Amino acid sequence: MTQKIWGGRFREETDTLVNRLNASISFDKRLYPYDIKGSIAHCKMLAKQGIISDDDASKILVALGEIQRELDRGVFSFDENYEDIHSLVEKTLINKIGSLGEKIHTGRSRNDQVALDMRLFVRDAINRIKDLIKKTQKALIELAEKNIDVIMPGYTHLQRAQPVLLPHHLLAYYEMLKRDYARFEEGFKRVNILPLGSAALAGSTFDLDREFVANELSFDSISANSMDAVSDRDFVLEFLFNSSTLMMHMSRLSEELVIWSTQEFDFITISDSFCTGSSIMPQKKNPDLPELIRGKTGRVYGDLLSLLTTMKGLPLTYNKDMQEDKEVLFDATDTTEICLEVMARLLCEVTFNKEKMEAATTKGYLVATDLADYLVRKGITFRQAHEIVGQMVLFALDQGKELEQLSLDEMKTFSRQINKNVFTWLDVRSSLKKRNLPGGTAPSAVKKCIQKAKKELEE
Ligand code: ARG
Repeated sequence: MTQKIWGGRFREETDTLVNRLNASISFDKRLYPYDIKGSIAHCKMLAKQGIISDDDASKILVALGEIQRELDRGVFSFDENYEDIHSLVEKTLINKIGSLGEKIHTGRSRNDQVALDMRLFVRDAINRIKDLIKKTQKALIELAEKNIDVIMPGYTHLQRAQPVLLPHHLLAYYEMLKRDYARFEEGFKRVNILPLGSAALAGSTFDLDREFVANELSFDSISANSMDAVSDRDFVLEFLFNSSTLMMHMSRLSEELVIWSTQEFDFITISDSFCTGSSIMPQKKNPDLPELIRGKTGRVYGDLLSLLTTMKGLPLTYNKDMQEDKEVLFDATDTTEICLEVMARLLCEVTFNKEKMEAATTKGYLVATDLADYLVRKGITFRQAHEIVGQMVLFALDQGKELEQLSLDEMKTFSRQINKNVFTWLDVRSSLKKRNLPGGTAPSAVKKCIQKAKKELEE
């Protein structure tokens, strides 16, 4: 039976049932590289401050290196008696070098230690996610360039609205991901603060050099209040919120990929290697991957809501409830990363059915707004023009025709201002070209955005 690191005050062994609920080792073992990294920095600082001798410190450092390699090799069984990763590392250290190892926890508590480990974990996760966001953005830009002149209906209420360039549609997702990237980058500032030196809650009686440790671990600054530092999980919540928003964006894109791959839309084909089949219906080819990204978005929301709820009733400072921060963080990190990785690849596996997409722009009066704009240029107020074109659409609907299929004489019955140059306003591609404001869907505007995006991605 492993003796607990806090065993001194206890007369009885911990009940095995207590261990089952109390132990976090089964999941926080994942924090070991960060826990060891933190202990190394703490140990160096203790020696520098003369709190432990240089000789002791170097023995501890060698042993911590060994423990790291052993954990890397996976030789440990993560017994529940160890309680958590912090105890495991400390116990192993003591097993290796005897009572000397007991000095590592001088001026430190598991409360500031776990806060440190979590910050180090989130820091790495943010960097990996930022890279994956860029990869997905690159895939979007490549897809936009490859399909530079494909046009399609733009939708509102999922009803055909106005013609747009497919790259314009794709670049909308580029912008969402750009905001996601910025949010993670911004959040990083609030993660990159050293909590160590706060000890249990009130700071330490030892002359710790917190700035030295911050520097060793590349933190920008040290926490300003020890009570806040050990009870703060805002940085995890912020990460979970940023992941949720990112997942929501990927979920919306996934939803479009699912819809577009239906026979009803038939806008895209996803290559076989990124689809799956049915166990009973031999003809089926299903878009499981975008469906899963859409589905997994709920999990990440759940992770955020779970931790928000955990934190809401906690008095200062550390409370054991906070151990619940780990599984949700790990789950959200893993889920977001795999989904981003899949999305970046999936986008390369999408082929657009250009003919179908363009054909869809010619049915459903997508140029009606253009016709109203045309009338405004003839001196009619917009509201009146809207009314006139509405009546023309109704007439065309009754005739089973599109607007450009009406004769000039038929059109003139609605407004005498209409003359034959109206037809250039009823052509889908010229409609696109006219929307050349910055941020619009005209090919000239979209091409500029692609160039700008490519530059941003290089930075
Ligand atoms: N396993 C604990 C956690 O994750 C570590 C901190 C324990 N602190 C304490 N005072 N019991 O929250």
